[in-house]
Amino acid sequence: MNSEIFDIGLGNNDTATREDAGRDYVAFWEKQARSLAWFEGWSEVLSWKPPFARWFVGGRINASYNALDVHQKDPERAAILWEGENGQRRKITYGQLFCDVQKFSNALKSSGVKKGDRVTIYLPMVPELIVAILSCARIGAIHTVIFSGFSASSIRDRVVDSNSKVVITADGGYRRGSIVKLKETVDAALEGLDFVQNVIVLRRTGNEITLGKRDVLWDDFVKNHPASCDAEPLPSEHPLYILYTSGTTGKPKGVLHDTGGYLTHIGSTFRWAFDIKDSDVYFCTADIGWVTGHSYVAYGPLICGATMVLYEGAPDYPSQSRMWDILQRYKVTIFYTTPTALRMFMKFGDSIPNSFDLSSIRLLGTVGEPINPEVWRWYYTVIGKGRCPIIDTWWQTETGGMMISPLPGLETIPLKPGSAALPIPGVDIAVVSEDGTELPPDTKGYLVIRKPWPGMLLTLWGDDEKYKSVYWSKYPGYYYTGDYAIKDKDGYFWLLGRADDILKVAGHRIGTAELESSIVSHHSISESAVCGVPDDVKGEVIIAFLVPKDGVAVTDGLRKEVIEHIRHDIGPIATPHQIYFVSKLPKTRSGKIMRRLLKAIASNEKIGDVSTLEDGAAVNEVQSAFDELKKQIK
Ligand code: WTA
Repeated sequence: MNSEIFDIGLGNNDTATREDAGRDYVAFWEKQARSLAWFEGWSEVLSWKPPFARWFVGGRINASYNALDVHQKDPERAAILWEGENGQRRKITYGQLFCDVQKFSNALKSSGVKKGDRVTIYLPMVPELIVAILSCARIGAIHTVIFSGFSASSIRDRVVDSNSKVVITADGGYRRGSIVKLKETVDAALEGLDFVQNVIVLRRTGNEITLGKRDVLWDDFVKNHPASCDAEPLPSEHPLYILYTSGTTGKPKGVLHDTGGYLTHIGSTFRWAFDIKDSDVYFCTADIGWVTGHSYVAYGPLICGATMVLYEGAPDYPSQSRMWDILQRYKVTIFYTTPTALRMFMKFGDSIPNSFDLSSIRLLGTVGEPINPEVWRWYYTVIGKGRCPIIDTWWQTETGGMMISPLPGLETIPLKPGSAALPIPGVDIAVVSEDGTELPPDTKGYLVIRKPWPGMLLTLWGDDEKYKSVYWSKYPGYYYTGDYAIKDKDGYFWLLGRADDILKVAGHRIGTAELESSIVSHHSISESAVCGVPDDVKGEVIIAFLVPKDGVAVTDGLRKEVIEHIRHDIGPIATPHQIYFVSKLPKTRSGKIMRRLLKAIASNEKIGDVSTLEDGAAVNEVQSAFDELKKQIK
């Protein structure tokens, strides 16, 4: 693999932690758990009844207590430095956040929300989103945050699946200067769903909204509630949240995380990866609607008592220098973003970041997709000025927290551009062949996790069988990540993208099955197949092959209609980059769509590039399907 090595670190050299983890991973995680505040200790560190793990059984803990109560020695310390897209600014201290959360917790309780009830949150990136999350956690309600770019029907599916009693939203949110009418979307989503008892509406943009019988304005909801509400001592395995994510099957899956194991994982990795100090100003650009925002915006920084910047809007609005302006103004020391954002910044040109003082930065992170070595080098040189380690963190919604990453807070190791380096201590990750045997170094295979880890999902909400089949059936005893990877001779991991039917567009997960089923719900389309092709900025973009119903004319109007339909059904993130109409999809004799062939066609490759045979189809079969498809494309 790449022999280029950057010997950069912070000089930390804690070899004992890795040695500890190597000796006994269960005892190791037990030691890490002690850095949290527990109401009661556990009787069993790990109950492992494959594939179900329960961590710190018998222990009692509360996430909100660990994020707030423990930091009240210094209530004036800044927790959140918030910047709205419209330039508005707010500083929220740990004391203020503590007070707001307790009030909101009391209000939730008095509206009838009980331990274990689900609460859906559909808010822009405002501090109240964090207040809502921590209030649910405080009383033991399970939050389910939906990214504010999702459509009404996506919200509806999630509210129904989670059976949420309460929905929290805002009148609107700012995006690129315009107002996204969130309340209106929620109204459409909840039509006829009588089990939703209350919709709490934050005033953010001041746009006109209609308030129905069950709707309450945020300020009225919290008014007159006392600012004191003790955190509920919850069992360690009590679910903290459901986060819906795209999978290989039609409907999004509700990934369910516990409390004690998850917090142990998040707290440890946040400290190890970011070497967090009291003097740091941490800025993660992820939206809280995705897992990065849950783990490393909402929970990680707060349980570690960090000061963070929270930004509401688009990274290039109103100008291409917005990010660097924020970094300079708040003197950000740790910056955590995505390869897609970096590729975009890189395209804008070096002169933009070069005209800002970025000397406060000491650590740079990335997450969500493979980072190309040239983008890594750009990040390292232009943004970090060759001084800052790049923390390329590999993980998933399901893993809860980072699994493979350089950890400068723990140790100084050489970095290789494009590699996420080593697994974190206490996890067992390997690259295996199709039949599950570990592959020799430098060989591409499937990434698996061979032992339970504390941030591991509990199950899929309401569907243990699907949990078993999605993650544990390909390699019995191993968790299947769905990623391709290579482990090199030095033990460094190179993540090579998804091996399953999940696309990563601008770092967002989109299931091909979900998208295809949305497309065929359009009245003019009978069949569809989607695939991803490489893109300079977004990493991957969506190409859709559609078979119109008999008698339907293929026009630009139809193309537009289908796109509108997808945006309406799922949300703008699932919009295809290109749509091809065909009269027949290429399939194997067993009826499976030849996806790699579609990919080859969409990327303008020759059939010879489709090197391995698709799902057992014969070469001549693939060849004729290829020729036929090329002829048909409109
Ligand atoms: C991909 C995001 C390469 C991977 C935290 C994984 C990455 C999926 C990296 C999970 C990385 C995440 N390098 N690929 N550093 N981080 N991925 O659930 O394919 O949105 O399986 O979680 O993102 O996406 P998810």
